[in-house]
Amino acid sequence: MEQFRIAVIGAGPSGLYAAAALLASGEPVSVEVLDRLPAPYGLVRYGVAPDHVKMKSVIRVLQRPFDPAHVEFLGGVRIGEGGIGLDELRTHFHAVVHATGSSVDRSLDVPGEELAGSLGSGAFVSWYCGHPDHTELDPPLDHPGVAVVGAGNVALDVARVLAKTADELAATDVPEPVLDALRGSAVRDIHVLIRRGPEHVRFTPAELHQIGDLAHADVLVHDDGLLAAGVAETPGEGVTERRQRQNLEMLTEWAGRHASDRPRRVHLRFLRSPVRLLGEDGRVSGVVVERNAVVDGRVVGTGEQETLDVGLVVRAIGYRGEPIPGLPFDEAGGVVPNEGGRVLRDGVAVPGAYVTGWIKRGPSGVIGTNKGDAAETVKALLADLPTLPAPAHPEPEALRAALAAHGIRPVDWTAWLRLDAEEVRRGGQRGAERVKVAHLAEMLDAAHGAPAP
Ligand SMILES: Cc1cc2nc3c(=O)[nH]c(=O)nc-3n(C[C@H](O)[C@H](O)[C@H](O)COP(=O)(O)OP(=O)(O)OC[C@H]3O[C@@H](n4cnc5c(N)ncnc54)[C@H](O)[C@@H]3O)c2cc1C
Ligand SMILES: NC(=O)c1ccc[n+]([C@@H]2O[C@H](COP(=O)([O-])OP(=O)(O)OC[C@H]3O[C@@H](n4cnc5c(N)ncnc54)[C@H](OP(=O)(O)O)[C@@H]3O)[C@@H](O)[C@H]2O)c1
Repeated sequence: MEQFRIAVIGAGPSGLYAAAALLASGEPVSVEVLDRLPAPYGLVRYGVAPDHVKMKSVIRVLQRPFDPAHVEFLGGVRIGEGGIGLDELRTHFHAVVHATGSSVDRSLDVPGEELAGSLGSGAFVSWYCGHPDHTELDPPLDHPGVAVVGAGNVALDVARVLAKTADELAATDVPEPVLDALRGSAVRDIHVLIRRGPEHVRFTPAELHQIGDLAHADVLVHDDGLLAAGVAETPGEGVTERRQRQNLEMLTEWAGRHASDRPRRVHLRFLRSPVRLLGEDGRVSGVVVERNAVVDGRVVGTGEQETLDVGLVVRAIGYRGEPIPGLPFDEAGGVVPNEGGRVLRDGVAVPGAYVTGWIKRGPSGVIGTNKGDAAETVKALLADLPTLPAPAHPEPEALRAALAAHGIRPVDWTAWLRLDAEEVRRGGQRGAERVKVAHLAEMLDAAHGAPAP
């Protein structure tokens, strides 16, 4: 019986759910998962906040296809520029499932956004999560004020990490240099700038609750009296009535709170948008904020402005996917055009090309959302199996040789487990479950068995 060889590009939740679904199908498929990083798990490793330890335990589910070794992992293999081209990869596989996520920070398009100290959440979160692309970020934490823009869970993650003490974060997996930087942090006031009202926030109540429960920071609500007056009952887009009610109950209770002697404060500032970042010597020195009104669901500036004294602005306002040369891309949506997971070029399905996860539907949804999403894509792929053109080089050795020709030595599952063990070893020295190895060269040394520094 013909064996169909499938590549999954991206070892985040969507790619790994797709690999598991392919394996569970009972069809004659072999699956290889490629990722540009030497470590699997995508945003579970490099997005989920370090203090959300329970959430990271989903890794136990995601790793199942590799253990026992039903699926091959090829880490450190980038598809596209600087790696192996998609056209070449396609000569080795019957089908390719693209699961590369949405890693590009969206911009606010306000003057001053280019200043040092103006960062996207993608960069800032990657830094504290130990992503090898951002080890040198060095975010300015030497100023008492910080602004975080956005009303989603990522904004809350960023605010919470900034509000916690280094001692609280020492038990997590943050890399040692990140912990050192947080230990030296002068941050006192974290201003979360929310462009609409309390009824519109996209926070989940469990995440919001944690902001009100911080040991060393107060939460202060700046709502211009909206909550006391009773806000409109219509939930914002994508927000259920239950979630809205729970958030409003919490926010209403907090609105009556006053600052205590805790060293830090998280200010939730509703109906406020940054309109300009101010700079001094090329770095952020303040943010001009305008008060908004919501008119027929639209955010409208009132012209009333104030300046907040901040040295760092983190925008947590969403992401876009990165185009892969050779694959159609919807510039406006920042996703790959598709129908139920089949990639479309000018409305017509591209044979053997599929997408899943954030690159398919955009940057929304929790880890579990990607399971159903991957199932839909895999169902389409399996239905197409009999029609998939045979690749020119179906033998696994041919791919290894092609990668070697590009100077790529993949990190296989055994090598990843060596890196994993090194992180657990470092964690033991700090009383944490693991401590991330963040520098790429060090990751590769640990994975390939070179002596630890
Ligand atoms: C900051 C943050 C915190 C979050 N916290 C939570 C949480 O606590 N709980 C929760 O349920 N959800 C959380 N989410 C949402 C969750 O992480 C996403 O739903 C999920 O990770 C999306 O999965 P994905 O596989 O589509 O993308 P990703 O997880 O981004 O995986 C994409 C993978 O593709 C790889 N890749 C990209 N480009 C290439 C290329 N060219 N070649 C090879 N490989 C490539 C990347 O290295 C990455 O491993 C969070 C999201 C963010 C941004
Ligand atoms: N613990 C968890 O479960 C967890 C943790 C992190 C992330 N996640 C999930 O990951 C996904 C992504 O999270 P996210 O926070 O990046 O996205 P999100 O939930 O879509 O929130 C993005 C926020 O940015 C705001 N925004 C967009 N453009 C803006 C602009 N120009 N100016 C000011 N504000 C702007 C939006 O405001 P409007 O609402 O006004 O449009 C929205 O509040 C979500 O599904 C989230 O639930 C889950």
